[in-house]
Amino acid sequence: MSHPSPIHLNVFVHTTGHHEASWLYPGSEPERTTDVGFYRELAAIAERGKFDSLFLADQLAVGRSVKHVAQGKLEPLTLLAALAGATERIGLIATASTTYSEPYNLARQFASLDHISGGRAGWNIVTSWSAEAAGNFGLAQRNSHADRYRRATEYVEVVRKLWDSWEDDARIYDRTRGVYADPGRIHAIDHGGEEFRVRGPLDIPRSPQGNPVLVQAGSSDEGRGFAARNAEAIFTAQQELGEAQAFYADVKGRAGALGRDPSGIKILPGLSPILGSTEAEAQALEDQLNDLTLPEVGLKHLSQRFDGFDFSVFPLDARIPIEAFPSPKTVQGAQSRSQIILNVVERERPTLRQLLRRLAGGRGHKVLAGTPDRIADHIQHWTESRAADGFNIMPATFPGGLAAFVDEVVPILQRRGLFRTDYAGRTLRDHYGLNWPQSRYARSA
Ligand SMILES: Cc1cc2nc3c(=O)[nH]c(=O)nc-3n(C[C@H](O)[C@H](O)[C@H](O)COP(=O)(O)O)c2cc1C
Repeated sequence: MSHPSPIHLNVFVHTTGHHEASWLYPGSEPERTTDVGFYRELAAIAERGKFDSLFLADQLAVGRSVKHVAQGKLEPLTLLAALAGATERIGLIATASTTYSEPYNLARQFASLDHISGGRAGWNIVTSWSAEAAGNFGLAQRNSHADRYRRATEYVEVVRKLWDSWEDDARIYDRTRGVYADPGRIHAIDHGGEEFRVRGPLDIPRSPQGNPVLVQAGSSDEGRGFAARNAEAIFTAQQELGEAQAFYADVKGRAGALGRDPSGIKILPGLSPILGSTEAEAQALEDQLNDLTLPEVGLKHLSQRFDGFDFSVFPLDARIPIEAFPSPKTVQGAQSRSQIILNVVERERPTLRQLLRRLAGGRGHKVLAGTPDRIADHIQHWTESRAADGFNIMPATFPGGLAAFVDEVVPILQRRGLFRTDYAGRTLRDHYGLNWPQSRYARSA
């Protein structure tokens, strides 16, 4: 296995940028969010910056703020198959929901992407918090948080069995005897559980990575348990060093308790960098973006985080009473994100308007405006403090914010010996320094 980079960088590709007003920023091209050429450009910039991977989210429903926020996008697995042909090294991670699909479908899609990309596929496993998505799949309302994670646990087990169902050497190509494959090395999985009955095997031979990399993005108690069992990389939102350290120690500890090597899980908190050649210039850019936001958009997003609670009844320029917030533990959407927002409110006591501006850039992820050195310092400090193994970079604007990070921050990280100057390996597992999993059926033989 190639020597991994000390830190890992993923870019979260998201329409015209992560700032909700990014499409209004001068130079933005919102008409290109359905143009594959736009994504090829972003992938080329990230690959020039030697990023480990790029990642696409998926909500399975149009956002409530479509009137005012750029949302055009493409289906992740389809887009990544196109990007596989336009890139050589960068890992390609697609979000796919365990709530609104069947394991057999998804196992073959990711196995295909792994073959097409030469071993660069990753699956961001989500349970879909969006209430709107339920209506697109025949449900009157979304299943409970606990039920979604229960299904996800069995779902992933089935997918992994399917990925293992062909041993690596099942195809023997013996032309003299006319034997293409050894059926003894192609296994039915005969899965019968509470949610799924799947006979198998998969109709696709084992893929270059054995299993595409399993990524997870939900940090509630259930989410952490699920991650400790399954994840090889974790996307998470963390605002404060202490909270991030606690999360890091908790998840790695849980994984260790399950007999896993904690270094086999890469924890990547979100970071939305806003760069300037001086601190004042960076701050001015953040202010410029925040000035383009509309309170009604922020109110919709905030309400969605708290299961539809209506914050518009509060005056914009007063502090919101903390007791007015619904408890994150009862939230059926994304529990960890509502907890982060509540922590911000408790710590900073912002007015409603200030809170909406605070969330406009990263939706609860950390936004950091500063010089390239300051951003690099932050990345170094958090990774050296066991708060992160790297970062999920969320540029405020695309492509400009990504290009600025690649041209100005990556070289500093490289000079400090923290980040690769070139790819050492070919697969996403190589980049993240993850083991190659042998088929469970070969192991048991
Ligand atoms: C960086 C990041 C990206 C995410 N992307 C998606 C996504 O594309 N689709 C989705 O339904 N949820 C997404 N989520 C949400 C989580 O997967 C999860 O559903 C949510 O946080 C609820 O889980 P929790 O209650 O365990 O926190 C994302 C979370 C993070 C941190």
